[in-house]
Amino acid sequence: MKAKKLTGEKAAEYIEDGMIIGLGTGSTAYYAIKKVGEMVRNGLKIKAVPTSKETAELAAAEGIELVELADVEALDLTIDGADEVDPDFNLIKGGGGALLREKIVASATEKLIIVIDESKLVEHLGSFHLPIEITPFSWQYTQRMVEKFSCSSKIRKKDGEIFVTDNGNYILDCDFGKIEDPLKISVELNKLPGVVENGIFAEMAEIVVVGYNDGHIDVL
Ligand code: 5RP
Repeated sequence: MKAKKLTGEKAAEYIEDGMIIGLGTGSTAYYAIKKVGEMVRNGLKIKAVPTSKETAELAAAEGIELVELADVEALDLTIDGADEVDPDFNLIKGGGGALLREKIVASATEKLIIVIDESKLVEHLGSFHLPIEITPFSWQYTQRMVEKFSCSSKIRKKDGEIFVTDNGNYILDCDFGKIEDPLKISVELNKLPGVVENGIFAEMAEIVVVGYNDGHIDVL
């Protein structure tokens, strides 16, 4: 909790007047959004694109002006969390189910700042099961195609029902074991009909802010 707050607030220091920023989703991004809200109330002028309905609600409640990605050219920076980060800054994201909008927003961003606590740093991606957003249509068929990549998978559920993303899709959580080549598997997965997007963010993050429970922060 303390580490997440520290790192979220640290990342907000990169925001400057006049910027258009992306706001991530999750319990670490939450602290960045709260901090941005405070900065806005103190006079900071920015506009923001949210990566989920949850973030849009939080940001609006904080008084942050929201815009559609469709209406802006590019984003100056985005602050978002991650489920795993490897030494090359490859990420697994999507634990909160917002990976599709998060990846679209990240791709439109000049500087992607990832905020994590120390537990998210890994040598190799894959201990956290990779979220893959798939269409509801014949999802079991898509699951079988995904499993041909030597993984086992489960359809994500919430309160006993299939979890539905902000985009009306489902999520498969996939156990690949150690992921040796994140970019390659990401590209291959996205070629499958029925796969909308996967949670590997390869070669996207520029800065990783790590918060530690003892209260210190590393900016990588
Ligand atoms: C949501 C995400 C989150 O950024 C990721 O799950 C990390 O969340 P948290 O900061 O709550 O641990 O990708 O889709």
